[in-house]
Amino acid sequence: MRALVNGYGFLGKRVARSLLLGKLPGVRLVAVARSTGYLYRPEGLRAEELGNDLSGSPHFVEGSALVLLEDGKVDLLVELTPTNLPSGEPALTNIRTALSRGIDVVTANKAPIALAYRELKEVARSTGALLLFEGTVGGGIPLISLRRFCLRGDEVLTIRGILNGTTNYILSRMHFEGLTFDLALREAQNLGIAERDPTLDIEGYDTALKLLILANAVMGLDRKLDDVRITGISRISADAVALAKEANMAVKLIGSVDADGRLSVAPRLVKLNDPICVHGTLNAVTIRLKTAGDLTLIGEGAGEPTVTSILNDIWEVVTVRGFGSA
Ligand SMILES: NC(=O)c1ccc[n+]([C@@H]2O[C@H](COP(=O)([O-])OP(=O)(O)OC[C@H]3O[C@@H](n4cnc5c(N)ncnc54)[C@H](OP(=O)(O)O)[C@@H]3O)[C@@H](O)[C@H]2O)c1
Repeated sequence: MRALVNGYGFLGKRVARSLLLGKLPGVRLVAVARSTGYLYRPEGLRAEELGNDLSGSPHFVEGSALVLLEDGKVDLLVELTPTNLPSGEPALTNIRTALSRGIDVVTANKAPIALAYRELKEVARSTGALLLFEGTVGGGIPLISLRRFCLRGDEVLTIRGILNGTTNYILSRMHFEGLTFDLALREAQNLGIAERDPTLDIEGYDTALKLLILANAVMGLDRKLDDVRITGISRISADAVALAKEANMAVKLIGSVDADGRLSVAPRLVKLNDPICVHGTLNAVTIRLKTAGDLTLIGEGAGEPTVTSILNDIWEVVTVRGFGSA
């Protein structure tokens, strides 16, 4: 199976390296792309060609790797470009192009799945292509796969959780150290936990995108970003956090889909003994099932653990297509 990794950043480099190390038998990494161009070798790329900066290689071609999808040069697109709002591009066009040609897609990019899940799923259905996106929500926590493989016989009634590690880190520092929001944010930025422009995280949009993916892909709803009521954490005061603490509660940025299918993202008071009351950069999600009751999953919602989700999705593609050994 010929694979293209599109987006050679934090995740792209790690996934490409894993594929080159042969962690997934049956996958030949034939192309890796960044915004300015790509490397393509039909016989498969070699580890020494993938430095930190692809453009140093004599095989580097300037231009968009979209042409590799249009010309059917790959069987699998691993789409790991940045999450862009409101357009979802370039990932949306890449994924649409791949699926419409029957090329399987694995992605961790939230925007195209949150913005156009129904449309992309329909294109995939019409061509028989696979569209897998475990890495979009909860890093290494297998939320989408859990629904697909383990909870088919049950009904998901509600979803409630902490889906953004950056805001959880900030709120945790305010809770345990009494820091102000501004100080906790600056600390998170200095540690590389928060972006230089933290708007998407602290204003709740990152959580909203993930919640949308869960609502549409796990609960079978058809919601849009406009359907989510979003309030971020930038106006949470140190006093509010201290008062919550005195009452054995913590302020957490909670994304929820209620029993009536309403989506909201807002700072909420959470009891300290609630299983979703996790701290630091951890994520936690409680899925309420009609028969099985509440199921809570906790784990790192970003960073290296996300690679696990992406590789598992690739493994599934390889297995379904009959290229794998497992
Ligand atoms: N990191 C995480 O923990 C995590 C977790 C879950 C989901 N995600 C999502 O997964 C995706 C990748 O994350 P990441 O952390 O690897 O991001 P990243 O480090 O910013 O890497 C993305 C890379 O894509 C390249 N790029 C930009 N425009 C491109 C284009 N048009 N075509 C090809 N490449 C392009 C960028 O570099 P150049 O412009 O130099 O090419 C950049 O290196 C994002 O959508 C992110 O939201 C990340």
